[in-house]
Amino acid sequence: MLTTIPRGTKDILPGAVEDWLYLEGKIRDICRLYQFKEIRTPMFEHTELFLRGIGETTDVVEKEMYTFTDRGNRSITLRPENTASVVRAYLQNKLYGDGNVQKLFYIGSMFRYDKPQAGRYREFHQFGVEAIGEQDALIDAEVIAFAAHFLKSLGLKDVALKLNSVGCPTCRTAYRKRLQDFFRPKLEQLCDDCRSRFERNPLRILDCKNEKCQAASEGAPEIVDYLCDDCRTHFEKLQQYLKVAGVDFSLDARLVRGLDYYTKTAFEFKYEPLGAQSAILGGGRYDGLIEECGGKPTPAIGFATGLERVLLALEKQNLLPQKQESCDISLIALGEAARSYCFDMLNKLRQKGLCARMSYGDKSMRAQIKQADKSSSRLAVIIGDDELAKQIAIVRNMSDSEQKEVPLASLLEELSADK
Ligand code: HAM
Repeated sequence: MLTTIPRGTKDILPGAVEDWLYLEGKIRDICRLYQFKEIRTPMFEHTELFLRGIGETTDVVEKEMYTFTDRGNRSITLRPENTASVVRAYLQNKLYGDGNVQKLFYIGSMFRYDKPQAGRYREFHQFGVEAIGEQDALIDAEVIAFAAHFLKSLGLKDVALKLNSVGCPTCRTAYRKRLQDFFRPKLEQLCDDCRSRFERNPLRILDCKNEKCQAASEGAPEIVDYLCDDCRTHFEKLQQYLKVAGVDFSLDARLVRGLDYYTKTAFEFKYEPLGAQSAILGGGRYDGLIEECGGKPTPAIGFATGLERVLLALEKQNLLPQKQESCDISLIALGEAARSYCFDMLNKLRQKGLCARMSYGDKSMRAQIKQADKSSSRLAVIIGDDELAKQIAIVRNMSDSEQKEVPLASLLEELSADK
């Protein structure tokens, strides 16, 4: 037990951390281009925020939250997603103050009690963006183009954008009724989850992965046929703007997303080789959430992508950069006096900004050269009693084994000039 990690979590070990740093670097680069600013919110929030924000009948809230009572008797939940938290922070810190749209991004751990499998974990990491305070369909297109640009900047191919509109509370009410009329005679064919969704959240039946539910959904009424004028115009404009931006998409009437706060635009980027975890990025508009959380009615849109899934896709397409780990200098000391001299030099080299190392213990020259080689050192600096007596060091170029003598008096200067 003590040496076993909880199910659905992962250690990110040296060697893999470099991939994460690479990805996070790409994220920060692209966020700068689109002028999204980083926000960091707590890993846990009052449970109420997620109940209200995400919706009480969603799978996330019903089955997947890590909720506990803290020592002060408050119900606390590890964040299963970050949109609700960002909205809470937006309201609490009055980020609406300057009247402009707020463009925010985040990178961090999320927690869902999901069934762990490749690409699905209980602690996973999201990069997400939220643009709060604008209703123009242009910003929907901008956010989607941003997502497409991000995936493209990593070199990813075969990623398909699916687009839908889930309408607003007005048009969705009429559609919900039509959908229930459609499914009522087919209730027996649906899985247990969908039978319970029928009353509470019938739209979710449309994206159930169960084959029987998918078959029962064939020919179901499509929400795009029930959109009110405002939602339809918004959806049409969005499609026009996406065409202007050169972003390919296909319409998917079954795309409803798993969180209740969505209105109008809903989208997902799919990478099919990840199978059941093919959704690598998803998002949409959530025009009712800020009001639901106690703010003034404020339109907003965003997306989040699972970094583990992006890394899996990058790995499949061989797009992760080669790791090059190297050290500038290995100090090779022979004898105790030389070890003290080298330890002093080691610290001075590091102060000068060089990566330097030396072996521990009293090792032979051969063993130390081997370690220098393993650490991919560019230079080995060999100092023994003889060299100390002559006040010189032997500097060996590790790539061609060329050696030269350098006076100790100018060693630091010479090594650091070589940087
Ligand atoms: P979501 O679709 O629930 O949306 O999650 C976004 C992405 O997180 C998914 O596309 C997937 O890549 C990743 N993901 C979700 N669950 C897991 C898991 N158990 N293991 C690994 N990866 C996972 C949201 O979270 C919304 N907050 C997105 C959003 C932002 N909508 C508007 N703004």
